[in-house]
Amino acid sequence: MSQPTSCSRRALLKSGGGAAGALALCACGSGGGGDSAAAAQGGTLGTPVPTSSIPVGGGKVFGDARVVVTQPSAGDFKGFSAVCTHAGCIVAMVVNGAIVCGCHGSEFDIATGAVKQGPATRPLPARTVTVSGSDLTVA
Ligand code: FES
Repeated sequence: MSQPTSCSRRALLKSGGGAAGALALCACGSGGGGDSAAAAQGGTLGTPVPTSSIPVGGGKVFGDARVVVTQPSAGDFKGFSAVCTHAGCIVAMVVNGAIVCGCHGSEFDIATGAVKQGPATRPLPARTVTVSGSDLTVA
């Protein structure tokens, strides 16, 4: 299966939430720990997943891809980096309208990625979700 990878911060440059998410593919190298805050760019979800797998009012964490996909309201899909902006853990789950990091308890809004509860202070970077029929991808 896919191995855990660590995205090079140098390869990713600084996207800063840019327009098109053109930095989509991250030539993930190898690794070592992978939990550094510098790897906080998150990833993409190139393999289509069924939209039906994303619960309305909730979401799903794709840990290997470092992406979290949410559906705040029916038919409205959002994508975010799954790398917690606090210290770089992959967020654990989506519950009660929040993307929750299990490392230190930060919570992020499923609609905007904004911090709902610290210690994180920065929002999860957004990713572009493309819905095609009954599937979606994240770039
Ligand atoms: Fe997520 Fe600390 S790394 S709360």
